[in-house]
Amino acid sequence: MRRLDDACDVDLHDGSELSEEQLIARLQGKQGILSIFTSPMTRRVIEASPALKVIANVAVGYNNIDIAAARARGIVVTNTPDVLTDATADIAWALILDITRRVSEGDRLVRAGGWKGWGLEFMLGTSLAGKQLGIVGMGRIGRAVAARGRVFGMRVAYWQRDPSRPGEPDATPLSLERLLETSDVVSMHVPLNDQTRHLIDAAALARMKPTAYVVNTARGPVVDEAALAVALKERRIAGAALDVFEREPDVHPALLPLENVLLVPHLGSATRETRTAMADLAASNIIAVLTGGTALTAIT
Ligand code: DGY
Repeated sequence: MRRLDDACDVDLHDGSELSEEQLIARLQGKQGILSIFTSPMTRRVIEASPALKVIANVAVGYNNIDIAAARARGIVVTNTPDVLTDATADIAWALILDITRRVSEGDRLVRAGGWKGWGLEFMLGTSLAGKQLGIVGMGRIGRAVAARGRVFGMRVAYWQRDPSRPGEPDATPLSLERLLETSDVVSMHVPLNDQTRHLIDAAALARMKPTAYVVNTARGPVVDEAALAVALKERRIAGAALDVFEREPDVHPALLPLENVLLVPHLGSATRETRTAMADLAASNIIAVLTGGTALTAIT
């Protein structure tokens, strides 16, 4: 923040969520905003903030920003790719290992005094080596999750919406339907947009194997939480691990009592090092635009 303070007048907000009205009031006369993915940078907010020149999102995802509205106003929009790839891939793998080996479930059992001792068939999980890891969206983070999967001995298959994008070595491209039918772990890495909202719905879940797991570190609305809760409760799939939710910080109530789902409070990029790098990159983008330079990681 010191670099921003040195470069411009900063109006620091405490980080709590702002409504559109509050954001509009706050943005009057401001040329730049360092936004987070819960900041509603809607058309209304953008059009009501005439001084705005740059929106620097401290996130790789930018579904909170109306890109068309920003583009129409000539506002530069930036995000923070690359710097959070490893942290997010790590948490995806923390989730995969936890849910398949029942780590948090075991922790809950021990704390509740329910552990009665070692047993040959006690709390058996699922091995990963030789199984198929299905990556939905083979971008930077999808690739990093795939690389970790190979280290764990998994075969990697993937689906990406744009088949013209270059393929991934050592990974099998599949249709989404086939990926869901054949994968043992399905990991979501697509951005949230009109095409990916509820990509994993009841029909998609019905295609999955009863022994398979779904993991979401992308955006909550990519998975239909109500449909997921039904599939988990009826054991139509083995388990799920979610770092993101449809209406954060609320979690669909039907998920809460289930043992076969892991619920994590959106920690994907939450390491000290990564958040510092994200904030730093966003600050550099603001400074570049406001001093007449070129943003480092512009979307528009
Ligand atoms: C992102 O970068 O999109 C994350 O979800 C926020 O950490």
